Amino acid sequence: MRVLGIETSCDETAVSLIEADGTFGVDFAFKQLGNALYSQAKLHEQYGGVFPNLAKREHAKNLVLLLTQALQQAGELHETPVSLPEEVKTQLEALLSREPELFEQLMVFIAAYGRPVIDCIAVTHGPGLEPCLWVGVNFAKALSLLWNLPIVAVNHMEGHIMLSLMEGTKLSPFEFPLLALLISGGHTELVLSKEFGQYEVVGKTRDDAAGEAFDKVARLLGLPYPGGPEISRVATTARNHHLEKKFALPRPMIHEDNLDFSFSGLKTAVRKIVEAHPDMSMDEKAAFAREFEDAVADVLIEKTIRAIDSFGANTIVVGGGVSANAHVREQLKRALEDEGNPAKLLIPPPDLATDNALMIALAGYFRASKKEFANPSDLVANGNLKLC
Ligand code: KG4
Ligand code: ZN
Repeated sequence: MRVLGIETSCDETAVSLIEADGTFGVDFAFKQLGNALYSQAKLHEQYGGVFPNLAKREHAKNLVLLLTQALQQAGELHETPVSLPEEVKTQLEALLSREPELFEQLMVFIAAYGRPVIDCIAVTHGPGLEPCLWVGVNFAKALSLLWNLPIVAVNHMEGHIMLSLMEGTKLSPFEFPLLALLISGGHTELVLSKEFGQYEVVGKTRDDAAGEAFDKVARLLGLPYPGGPEISRVATTARNHHLEKKFALPRPMIHEDNLDFSFSGLKTAVRKIVEAHPDMSMDEKAAFAREFEDAVADVLIEKTIRAIDSFGANTIVVGGGVSANAHVREQLKRALEDEGNPAKLLIPPPDLATDNALMIALAGYFRASKKEFANPSDLVANGNLKLC
């Protein structure tokens, strides 16, 4: 089955085409036929975070180009256009009435290229920034109408989990129960899964997400957006050069008897220290960034280990942008080893940890195999979509 994945939940616009076979088990295998991604991070840098209306416009501006690139890589860009009946054109225009630029570009595409060989369209419909999600959802509806294809509505967080479960082009052999630590710009959650497609959120942040904390603290330290990779870079320098730590930060909620997190106090503590020491040197800032990274990693790992123990998890999956963080990855691995815990740890390679459309196509494939298609007229974007 060939699945076209579309991702527009935040500031990455992405389109991916995969060919997959088999069930959710050892017989599963996939091939990535085409993959195109445009990160808007540079554009949002001036705002110190994602500016939703700008992100929405950029998604609308780039989707057709990314679709073209992904299809070209897949050898599915056929210069054999079919003429579009006037009534279909009217329907497409109505579907994309809020994205007129996307409609215009799609018309140009349709005039040049024919139908690719695809079996279904998988699109992120939540969680994320709702105006952004709508662009992807409306685009999926338009392509579904145009090419007469079913749509699968994908939960972005399930996408992160599915991608983390891959080992090359196959599913990594693993056993339920599975515990997922999902750490991104919008989420920090511990999710328990006892079978495919069934989830229970057993812990979550009560305020800021881990990635959000990285981004905000980076801004306080004068580092560019997105802050996660920047904090990680300077913290690594501080570790390698044994830069002395001048300021200590709390480990919020680490000793509380629950699986929840809180990161906003950590950000406030950083702000107070930065304000009290306006002339911090670069080395001091680097050592401080390290202390912040240590604090976040300490609480993430403590609660994850506690969750693994209390639910007897056999597999740990880490997903979301913050799972690209080398320190978090290493510390979690070490903590499991120190405990002699035999649970299998699965983390995607750093370049696949952040948002992409491959993860949406993969999650979409497993849902499509179970014929879980959406009715296009009922399909809506839901910024607060939950995993359940
Ligand atoms: O999953 P993702 O790409 O988008 C969301 O769904 O939010 O995650 C983006 C987040 C940003 O907050 C970014 O700063 C953080 O992931 N991030 C990192 C690293 N790389 C990305 N945080 C810490 N260390 C990193 N190396
Ligand atoms: Zn994400």
